[in-house]
Amino acid sequence: MTAGPDAIAQAARLLEEGKLVAIPTETVYGLAADADNPAAVAAIFSAKGRPSNHPLIVHVARDADLSHWAIDIPPVAQQLIAAFWPGPLTLILKRAPGVDDVITGGQDSIGVRCPSHPVAQAVLKLFRGGQGGIAAPSANRFGRVSPTTVQHVIDELGEPGVGPVSAVLDGGPCEVGIESTIIDLTRLDTQGPVLLRPGQISVHQLEKVLGRPLATTDHAAPRVSGSLDAHYAPRTPLALIEREVLAETMAALRAKQRQVVSLAIDKEVVQTTALQAEILQTEILQTEGLQSERLGSEGVFTTRMPSDPQAYAQALYAQLRSLDQVGADLILVEQPPKTTAWQGINDRLQRAAFDSAGVLERLLA
Ligand code: TXA
Ligand code: MG
Repeated sequence: MTAGPDAIAQAARLLEEGKLVAIPTETVYGLAADADNPAAVAAIFSAKGRPSNHPLIVHVARDADLSHWAIDIPPVAQQLIAAFWPGPLTLILKRAPGVDDVITGGQDSIGVRCPSHPVAQAVLKLFRGGQGGIAAPSANRFGRVSPTTVQHVIDELGEPGVGPVSAVLDGGPCEVGIESTIIDLTRLDTQGPVLLRPGQISVHQLEKVLGRPLATTDHAAPRVSGSLDAHYAPRTPLALIEREVLAETMAALRAKQRQVVSLAIDKEVVQTTALQAEILQTEILQTEGLQSERLGSEGVFTTRMPSDPQAYAQALYAQLRSLDQVGADLILVEQPPKTTAWQGINDRLQRAAFDSAGVLERLLA
């Protein structure tokens, strides 16, 4: 059940006391702490098992005074804020002198974002009278898939009050489903605005507001844990595969007695995959309220994903978690279209597949 006013007020109080609270945002659930309390922020790192040099995003209320966090805020930041806040966009700005090193990982920049989820907004409005900042990475253990439901948060970090988290606020399944788009505005003179992490807000939408092209990440870019190659990964190996060969690959793996599950978008691909893997005779398995259906039996099945990128992103992490629990040899994923609307999704899928290079070939051998 979505958190009501009492739970929200209690969460704001706990945060003011220096406790950790998991909060819903429109992208993914965050593990929140008072950004002005270095000990509370340090507790985030130990709860996640996250290296201390990976900086955190500070979440602020709608009309918060950004000068507490950042200096030399360029006009282009205001344009992006006007266009996309509250919403799934994080801006990297030059850090204000008062900001503690524990948040920025010692860097001279800081990430800020104003989330649109009503529960996050309500917490931010109450917390320190709307003037505070809430540091919050995704509420998962380091390197794992971000949580998009309360149950995911509990699976990652334990029950509230038992593990390191004092409370978990329910905001329902996250609407966006993948992490915010991150734009670096600290190197405007030399590189212009730089895209550090693609998300739901597309490059096309951003460039329209910016009135100039967006550079993409390079090796001189600041550390972003979301930009480590093997991030956002399920434990089961994952391979991306072109639509045309998904069905035959799944069948070939079945012939080798491999246990394989797949995610496909195209309805026909789903059906031929199921047919060729000889699993069509079994039932359609519904997955917890997601816009997707499974064709097959427990253990070997193919899941039909939405063809709309927003709905796909919304379902993706819950699907990966649920597929991970099957304990299959491989998760095969139909390569989504390579258009800008799919960029955030393709980015996460590539990272999820990074550690599994060569696994498909080995399983087929
Ligand atoms: O959608 C989101 O952004 C979610 C929700 C909870 O707001 N948060 C999130 O946080 O994804 P996290 O910590 O899992 O990922 C934030 C990314 C990290 O990869 C971090 O390295 C990068 O933002 N980041 C934060 N501050 C930065 C900075 N000053 N310079 C470069 N990258 C930064
Ligand atoms: Mg994360």
